[in-house]
Amino acid sequence: MLSLSFFFPLKLETVLLGDDIPPSSSQSAVATSIPFRNDLLDVIGSITAVSGLSPMISALSVNPSKSTSPIYLLPRFQAHKSATQRNWRVPLEAPSQKWLLHVGNAFEVKDVDGNSEIKIQACACSYQWFNFQKLFGYNWQSGQLDPSIMNRLNAWNKPSDFPVIYPEVSGKKNACIYASTSSGSRQALPHFPFDMVVKINLSTKTASTWSAGARRFIGEPIFVPKGTEEEEDGYILVVEFQYRDDLVILNPKRIGETDAVVARLEVPKHLIFPLGFHASDRQHYQYSFNESPAELLFDSMAKDPVRVLVTGAAGQIGYALVPMIARGAMLGPDQPIILHMLDIEPAAEALNGVRMELVDAAFPLLGDVVATTDVTVACKSVNVAVMVGGFPRKEGMERKDVMSKNVSIYKAQASALEKQAAPDCKVLVVANPANTNALILKEFAPSIPEKNITCLTRLDHNRALGQLSERLKIHVGEVKNVIIWGNHSSTQYPDANHATVTTANGEEKPVRSVVADENWLNTEFITTVQQRGAAIIKARKLSSALSAASAACDHIRDWVLGTPKGTWVSMGVHSDGSYGIQAGIIYSYPVTCDKGQWSIVQGLKVDDFSREKMDATAKELVEEKTLAYSCLN
Ligand SMILES: NC(=O)c1ccc[n+]([C@@H]2O[C@H](COP(=O)([O-])OP(=O)(O)OC[C@H]3O[C@@H](n4cnc5c(N)ncnc54)[C@H](O)[C@@H]3O)[C@@H](O)[C@H]2O)c1
Ligand SMILES: *[C@@H]1O[C@H](CO)[C@@H](O)[C@H](O)[C@H]1NC(C)=O
Ligand SMILES: *[C@@H]1O[C@H](CO)[C@@H](O)[C@H](O)[C@H]1NC(C)=O
Ligand SMILES: *[C@@H]1O[C@H](CO)[C@@H](O)[C@H](O)[C@H]1NC(C)=O
Ligand SMILES: *[C@@H]1O[C@H](CO)[C@@H](O)[C@H](O)[C@H]1NC(C)=O
Repeated sequence: MLSLSFFFPLKLETVLLGDDIPPSSSQSAVATSIPFRNDLLDVIGSITAVSGLSPMISALSVNPSKSTSPIYLLPRFQAHKSATQRNWRVPLEAPSQKWLLHVGNAFEVKDVDGNSEIKIQACACSYQWFNFQKLFGYNWQSGQLDPSIMNRLNAWNKPSDFPVIYPEVSGKKNACIYASTSSGSRQALPHFPFDMVVKINLSTKTASTWSAGARRFIGEPIFVPKGTEEEEDGYILVVEFQYRDDLVILNPKRIGETDAVVARLEVPKHLIFPLGFHASDRQHYQYSFNESPAELLFDSMAKDPVRVLVTGAAGQIGYALVPMIARGAMLGPDQPIILHMLDIEPAAEALNGVRMELVDAAFPLLGDVVATTDVTVACKSVNVAVMVGGFPRKEGMERKDVMSKNVSIYKAQASALEKQAAPDCKVLVVANPANTNALILKEFAPSIPEKNITCLTRLDHNRALGQLSERLKIHVGEVKNVIIWGNHSSTQYPDANHATVTTANGEEKPVRSVVADENWLNTEFITTVQQRGAAIIKARKLSSALSAASAACDHIRDWVLGTPKGTWVSMGVHSDGSYGIQAGIIYSYPVTCDKGQWSIVQGLKVDDFSREKMDATAKELVEEKTLAYSCLN
């Protein structure tokens, strides 16, 4: 008894065999499409087929007028007892005329009566449609799709090919199958080339997809298992073609979700994957990795992507910041990124525009983009959170009213981070009042340690470096160790007392002695840095955005990757009472970072001039803390 059933999506079909197959032949029977191998093509026939003079089918010794398809089962081990019980030269006749293209899996199952069934999961199309002009059941000239591969019973009825499975279950019952398929979204050529990966869950017979997006197409997928015990644990690799080749690495378990892409690597220009991968067994692709520079790609792929949240992403800082992150300015040039962008409902359309531009920029490091107005979705599993979103002060609003708006925003976002963020999350608050927002955030995200919540004063720090380099007419890289003390406001204290300049012969000299102008350092230098934000607004009619975005990248980069030896930076951090500043406020200090942890630089000498300025800005923050807490109720 032989039956062919189409429980299977795409053109994958299952061949069910009954008592035709001797029981106990499980290891010995393999399904194969050997009679259709390329070396059986006759050369002239193939040339005429390729040139379109004759259909390719005529080049093969298959009779297209038959109503059944022969499927040959060959014994793998000749000596096996069961191998003798069957005449292997006699093919099974599948009760339909199908051309088997690629086999994803074949295995034997026993029914309750002990009969064997052999299931073959393969892509197939009808004989008359299989030639080079009608590849994959699609006729390029007429734009018609082979009707025989359209199967309405299936969960997935779009043309597909190159089925692959989790290789550990090859020859056994598999839970899922993956294949290249077409979204059908292109007006011209809707069916081929393929532009999506489909995953079919065989128990639920449901399909989920990952799409390469508009104007891109993909080659064959392969499944690379991680080598763990867990089924479906690994990567789907697929080459995506556009004006360049990208190797896209998908998490098979996340296909159908927004975060399916694990990494995307630009294939070096001198390499090409003409058809992607053409192999479905492990030996085969091991071979290709050993033999080809794909191995190199594997090394650089070793990093898991980092999820970075940017709130207020549709705003002007957000617009400058997200491309910097996607280019590696925040976490390094080899760190894949998944960007989470949050904004509020009125900005949803603009946010989508930013998302579209990120797609258009085709950043090699950018695995995926989540653009949402839902704070829960935005915070899900993020490793870094940059909080830029804030409520703008409107004409005539009381300070307390604005504060209470800001407090409620940070309260809500803190709760979402508390519940959703990854356990190693680091938070940077940019939105003003940055210090106090960070404090509120800390209050409502009690499980995120206070050490992991900081605010941005790096912009002020960089501004101070910039002023000194302009004054001394030297490159900014030759100045270091300025300090911003206190609040990110005009009461901040930019301190050049410990700053140094590296001279041409590599010597480090105190900025004070090199500048040799006490008056400038104690007045104009300080006020210029303090008022720089206002000066930018006056000039640009908009507040600073690119410098703020760049500073946010510097802040996170140094925090995560460490400050260079002998260099400190300024960060708004939780005060532990260092330098006589009241503990429990978020205050900008000089810090060094190592292994993802910041520490306040200790033991710097503080003169009376500095003391007074450091205390004044602290006093402001203490007051603001009181105001903020009064808004909490
Ligand atoms: N710490 C610093 O050094 C520094 C420097 C510059 C600006 N800032 C501050 O950064 C913030 C952003 O500046 P900008 O120029 O990008 O402002 P912007 O107005 O252009 O953008 C703010 C964005 O936040 C969004 N937003 C408002 N409420 C939100 C919420 N509850 N959740 C998510 N998003 C929300 C807005 O829709 C807007 O898109 C401001 O508070 C600004 O004062 C800080
Ligand atoms: C198939 O879907 C079911 C129901 O959603 C789910 O429980 C199962 O884990 C899925 N299998 C795989 C391998 O994804
Ligand atoms: C609240 O946030 C806005 C925008 O982030 C800021 O301009 C305003 O100064 C903040 N309110 C207070 C009271 O600081
Ligand atoms: C805080 O940051 C440190 C350093 O990166 C990290 O190891 C730790 O997991 C973080 N903790 C939380 C709860 O975010
Ligand atoms: C502290 O700095 C922030 C950011 O500039 C500002 O909004 C806030 O008003 C300052 N606090 C006080 C009490 O002035």
